[in-house]
Amino acid sequence: MAVERVDMGGYTLIENAPLLTRNTLRVNARAKLLAEVRDASKLPELLDFPALRTGQLLVLGEGSNILLTGDIDGTVLAMETRGVHVEQDGEIARIAVAAGERWDDFVRWTLGQGFAGLENLILIPGTVGAAPIQNIGAYGTEVAEFIESVEAWDRIERRVVTLDRTACAFAYRDSLFKHEPDRFIVTAVRFALPRQHALRMDYAGIREELERIGVSNPAPFHVAEAVVHLRTRKLPDPAVIGNAGSFFKNPIVDAAQGETLKRAFPELVAWPGKDTRWKLSAAWLIETAGFKGMRKGDAGISNRHALVLVNHGKASGQELWAFAQHVIEGVHARFGVQLEPEPMVIGPR
Ligand code: FAD
Ligand code: EPU
Repeated sequence: MAVERVDMGGYTLIENAPLLTRNTLRVNARAKLLAEVRDASKLPELLDFPALRTGQLLVLGEGSNILLTGDIDGTVLAMETRGVHVEQDGEIARIAVAAGERWDDFVRWTLGQGFAGLENLILIPGTVGAAPIQNIGAYGTEVAEFIESVEAWDRIERRVVTLDRTACAFAYRDSLFKHEPDRFIVTAVRFALPRQHALRMDYAGIREELERIGVSNPAPFHVAEAVVHLRTRKLPDPAVIGNAGSFFKNPIVDAAQGETLKRAFPELVAWPGKDTRWKLSAAWLIETAGFKGMRKGDAGISNRHALVLVNHGKASGQELWAFAQHVIEGVHARFGVQLEPEPMVIGPR
């Protein structure tokens, strides 16, 4: 099918655009219109187009945390803006980063500059603009801790707003942006990164990995190297097999339910919280319920990590979602625990 492409200076419009290479679950969906945005100052002009004022709008980074269950009968706004600006250096650096920068490139750049804090978050796919949406986290660190503010285009107020960390309401895999999904287009994120900070090495496997690579007095980049080794070993690579990382969040239950489950299933993997809630390992629940490595057609659960929904080839978004629901139902039947998807599920359910 012919694809019309028009360069508007600052953004490019593409009609009937394929999204296959724009989502890591490799779902073969299309968008009625795709806008590749390279200049955020053009957003007001772009959003004023009649088609964008009323129709469906999906803001997209690298598509590493979405499941498309159908075509987009509206516009996909791909944020491809670039720029990293050190606004203030010193004991704490303030760095403003454009939404379209690749997260992992930015983390590596900070380490090269001697800024600490983001080392445990190395190798997470996606863009900087998407990092605050679910408050990305790994190996004992969440990005919220290092975000000073988020700059966004507010589609309701029709102006650029700056939201500080408190306004962003960050929590485990959650933020204000998830609760008002059609409102904010993140244009930049401002980070506050220390030159010195206490390294986080308590997450299972980090110290062992540092020992294995022969490091006894680690710097931030050593921790990053350990995390790279762990992640590469544990998680399937989307370049090899379609996936969106963890497809399910680790469920949070109250302590009473946690204790009851632990009595019934002494092997249960769970992390009792500082408050009265427990976080349960969804991977353990899924593996114990027998879903690890299971597949139906091309949709399945990875045989490397039970949290990862995979597309073995040509699974549609609907097929992937049906398999995910099969897992949710199976875990609920076995443990009485309700799993929730981590990625945004976009389209019919
Ligand atoms: P997309 O998938 O493009 O978008 C995700 C959501 O954010 C969508 O709702 C989208 O509308 C919204 N969005 C994107 N950009 C903007 C913007 N500029 N403004 C407003 N809304 C926007 N996540 C973790 O937290 N920890 C991990 O360890 C981790 N590991 C992963 C490993 C693999 C192999 C994969 C494939 C994914 C992993 N993820 C992980 C999930 C994913 O990498 C993150 O959620 C990432 O932040 C998504 O970035 P993206 O640019 O691909 O966002
Ligand atoms: N486990 C199993 N079976 C498996 C895999 C893991 O039982 O197949 C159990 C093991 O007991 C293991 C425990 O689960 O010790 C924890 O596994 P892991 O360290 O891989 O962490 P996770 O809880 O499964 C979370 C995040 C990941 C993040 C890692 C590291 C969520 C939903 N997922 O996974 O984030 O990289 O911790 O911090 O919180 C993502 O969000 O996409 C993602 C990959």
